[in-house]
Amino acid sequence: MQRASFLLRFPPALKAVSRTMATRTPTLVPVDRQAYNGGDMIHDPIATVDPEAFEIMKQEKKRQRRGLELIASENFTTKSVYDALASAMSNKYSEGYPGARYYGGNEFIDQMELLCQKRALQVFGCDPKDWGVNVQPLSGAPANLAVYTAIVEAGGRIMGLDLPDGGHLSHGFFTPTRKVSVTSIFFESMPYKVNPKTGLIDYDQLEQNAMLFRPKVIVAGMSCYARHLDYARFRKIADKCGAYLMADMAHIAGLVAGGVVPSPFEYADIVTTTTHKSLRGPRGALIFYRKGVRSVNAKGVETMYDLGSKIDTAVFPGLQGGPHNHTISGIAVALKQCLTTDFQEYAKQTVANSKALAGRLAELGYTLVTGGTDNHLCLVDLRPKGVEGARVEHVLDLAHIACNKNTCPGDVSALRPGGIRLGTPALTSRDFKEEDFVKVAEFIHKGVEICLKYNDKAGKTMKDFKAFCESSEELKADAKKLGDEVMEFTTNFPIPGNEEA
Ligand SMILES: *Cc1c(COP(=O)(O)O)cnc(C)c1O
Ligand SMILES: *[C@@H]1O[C@H](CO)[C@@H](O)[C@H](O)[C@H]1NC(C)=O
Ligand SMILES: *[C@@H]1O[C@H](CO)[C@@H](O)[C@H](O)[C@H]1NC(C)=O
Repeated sequence: MQRASFLLRFPPALKAVSRTMATRTPTLVPVDRQAYNGGDMIHDPIATVDPEAFEIMKQEKKRQRRGLELIASENFTTKSVYDALASAMSNKYSEGYPGARYYGGNEFIDQMELLCQKRALQVFGCDPKDWGVNVQPLSGAPANLAVYTAIVEAGGRIMGLDLPDGGHLSHGFFTPTRKVSVTSIFFESMPYKVNPKTGLIDYDQLEQNAMLFRPKVIVAGMSCYARHLDYARFRKIADKCGAYLMADMAHIAGLVAGGVVPSPFEYADIVTTTTHKSLRGPRGALIFYRKGVRSVNAKGVETMYDLGSKIDTAVFPGLQGGPHNHTISGIAVALKQCLTTDFQEYAKQTVANSKALAGRLAELGYTLVTGGTDNHLCLVDLRPKGVEGARVEHVLDLAHIACNKNTCPGDVSALRPGGIRLGTPALTSRDFKEEDFVKVAEFIHKGVEICLKYNDKAGKTMKDFKAFCESSEELKADAKKLGDEVMEFTTNFPIPGNEEA
């Protein structure tokens, strides 16, 4: 009944569509309802209420514990962050901002959001007079979209590091045949690149192109670039062409917080970051924006920043509804931990480990893009070895080593990347030290050797290769032997919040 009266409100064209659909044969399956036969569905633990979901979670926990996690964007969060995520904060609807909500009952939600904002500014040394922060974005890509929505008109121009060169999808990625990221559909995007010989960002070319393209925003950020970004140079280029400089520090935020890599805050107008990578918090994002005087002209007339209200309204009500309050609580908890000397030690260790891993791989004869690393990741160019990144990724995965295939500068096809990306944050959280990463490098080397041993007879395509891995008892035995060594090694390193089986 309700549905019929609802349809009456639709214009004729939509009613016509509904009528057509009504004449089709029904495809819905009758819903099979059963009484809950445990004790009390509201209060029973997940293991009782939903053993199926519980079992999957248990398996995932086990997988995380037995393997070597080298995906550069991943980390293990802490017990206290888990506690915040699983708290009553998850229940609350609170559209709006502190002091201006659309629903009642938000006094504690307000307190938490303000606490989260205060800590976010504190962690990165931002004076609240000069910087504001929005803590509501649901994740990194939506945070970046919110920034473009706030300060670039529809169809306006943005420039970011190309995805195959180490940039992120949300920096305007498109291919010759497809506008892949929504940020290249709604905005006009022009990438900048790395020099294919050195693997380093080609700032001169970026400057030339920026002067022609005149973007509204230049994005300084990366998901796979092993060197520091030259924020001072980015600032100069942005000033010269009249663009805002947005730094996306998603990958390195924890290292910035720990003071072990250069901070973008001195140079950028806007800084975005995810909270679940190097910050070790729950999945979410932050947008920092400058306040106060933006520029002073020759006559001494000041132009003020107006980023705060634009960014806040782009996030809500522009792109989102109610914020995830339990996440904001978890971010607040994670940020407090960033202020400890322990966290700074971790950040230092993360970089030291990355250098140890890259150093040992170089000794073993591997080519590293840019020749090494300044941060938490390295990109191994496997092309000189004559084996594809995807194959190595697959064989390492069989041996419980998780990393990802990645394009290397000059790769002709993004579909057949020539390298693998390795990151140290997650295993550093498990208390791995330099000598442990030397061991990790040797495990990876053994994986590559397995790959090379079978590469020629394993077929041309990746599909052939995977089928070969399924069927070859010999390869499986080699991978299992390596996997067993890896498992034995990892049992010595506990994971935060994942102690029990
Ligand atoms: C991971 C990442 C993002 C996107 O974050 P999601 O939370 O996955 O949407 C954005 N920018 C950079 C540089 C990243 O590395
Ligand atoms: C919940 O969401 C609202 C947004 O409406 C936010 O202001 C509030 O701070 C959030 N709660 C917490 C705990 O952060
Ligand atoms: C992951 O967490 C550790 C602390 O356990 C931290 O030192 C590290 O910086 C985090 N990740 C990254 C990418 O930095």
